[in-house]
Amino acid sequence: MSKRFYLTTAIDYVNGAPHLGHAYEKVIADVIARARRSMGEEVFFLTGLDEHGQKVEQAAEAEGRDPQTYCDALAVQWREFVQNLGISNDDFIRTTDARHKAVVTAVLNRLHQAGHFYKAGYEGWYSVKEETFLTDKDQNPDGTWDPRWGQVVRLKEENWYFRLKEHQDWLLQYLDAHPEFIQPATRRNEILGFLRSQPLEDLCISRPKARLSWGIPLPFDPDYVSYVWFDALINYLSVPVSRGDAGAMAPELGQPATDFAAWPADLHIIGKDIVKFHAVYWPIMLKALGAPLPRTLLVHGWWQKDGQKLSKSTGNVVDPAAVTGEWGLDAFRYYLIRELAIGPDGNWTDEGFRARYNAELANGPGNLLNRALNMLNKYRGGQVPAASRELESDTAQAVAAARSSLEASDLQDALVAIWNLVNRANLYVEQTAPFRLAKDPAQSARLDEVLYNLVEICRILAVMLNPFVPAASAKIWAQLNLPAGELPWSLTAWGGLQPGHQVGAPQPLFPRKDLAPK
Ligand code: MSP
Repeated sequence: MSKRFYLTTAIDYVNGAPHLGHAYEKVIADVIARARRSMGEEVFFLTGLDEHGQKVEQAAEAEGRDPQTYCDALAVQWREFVQNLGISNDDFIRTTDARHKAVVTAVLNRLHQAGHFYKAGYEGWYSVKEETFLTDKDQNPDGTWDPRWGQVVRLKEENWYFRLKEHQDWLLQYLDAHPEFIQPATRRNEILGFLRSQPLEDLCISRPKARLSWGIPLPFDPDYVSYVWFDALINYLSVPVSRGDAGAMAPELGQPATDFAAWPADLHIIGKDIVKFHAVYWPIMLKALGAPLPRTLLVHGWWQKDGQKLSKSTGNVVDPAAVTGEWGLDAFRYYLIRELAIGPDGNWTDEGFRARYNAELANGPGNLLNRALNMLNKYRGGQVPAASRELESDTAQAVAAARSSLEASDLQDALVAIWNLVNRANLYVEQTAPFRLAKDPAQSARLDEVLYNLVEICRILAVMLNPFVPAASAKIWAQLNLPAGELPWSLTAWGGLQPGHQVGAPQPLFPRKDLAPK
């Protein structure tokens, strides 16, 4: 079997309810997954949950539950969240799955045997919230700590360390030679700057069980569990390994090889706050293991609402379930991708959302489909007239632009290209004025041409829109009375609608909503 296009999201901590940020990352990944499938690639799309570590242990404790029971209950809610966003993931990993724990254990054993770890004493500061060791440099001059570290305690303990330091030169060379590894370039430059300006510290990969028991035990030292990030990053590998992917070292990590081939990952889609883990620790872990490195980290920015940080405590939140309940899932997916390119930070405003809904969805493809089907039904009894190629080249241009943007994961640009065609077609209606042509029998052939171009563009739009707004795309297809099924990108070729084909009646794609703010 040929290698699949393998893409992942970060795995979410189960210490709370899902929010807009989590939804955003999954929608990006889903659009890419659907687009790649439509272009004929076999895709493997993984998402899931990060269940170990102190954050989760403390959240469970606060609810008076043992961590596993707590995670099992929240996992149900998170899976539902993913489903309700229409996410087409092929697998869902929980880091408490036996398949994951087996691979983490095998990785730990291999790296230990190969001499990548050592045990040493540590005395210093520790952020409980971020589960990370701090140095005096992180402390404010007056002895206090930045609130982002939460509670900071003094620790004295022995731990296991991973020799990161010795990989620094190699990593720098690798990043230099692979500009595609961290996208966009601003994030790549941050990591290069960091690696060039300071020596890497070895990474503490253990936590004493006496202090934190909710983790995967170190197979070579029963008093310790694995540091949560060491465990979590391995999810990207543990799933293909457990499916027998030889490229992910399945046999070396104790699983029989099958013909499943996904590793190396093509895209890890992550937020800007976790680049260092993915761009520094993860490649070094893989290099030490002898596994190929992922191709690209696609790093997105963070959403705010009304210019303020999302925060449950201040109530500054966007509830994806509420938005999709009121406006439909497609409108939510469209807004996230159209409003914000992958990279910079974004700002959600309810006004902005409403404005895009009305101006771009209802008045865009919604209006176009409505007009095309209405006129075809009214003037030609719903029968597709003889084929015409008047807008073929404009359409082909939009199709090519959208395709190359999709291949580059420039999802916002792809929507811009698609809307160029929507606007072109809506303008064509104004310019050709079919309602006037219909009044003049001498213009009958011209009316046929116009109607053909309009419905054919609707058909092609359904194909291009499918990865972004799958439900609306299926509705266009159904109203055109075409057989339901996959909509491969090849169906964007002009001329798919056959003369004589009978279309259905128009129904609103994006019903117009009251423009007045609530
Ligand atoms: N568990 C780790 C990731 C481990 S990956 C091996 C984690 N979890 S998280 O739940 O805190 O975040 C999951 C993802 O959501 C991250 O990529 C993060 O950047 C993203 N977001 C969290 N809040 C966000 C916004 N406000 N906006 C956009 N994305 C945000 O980190």
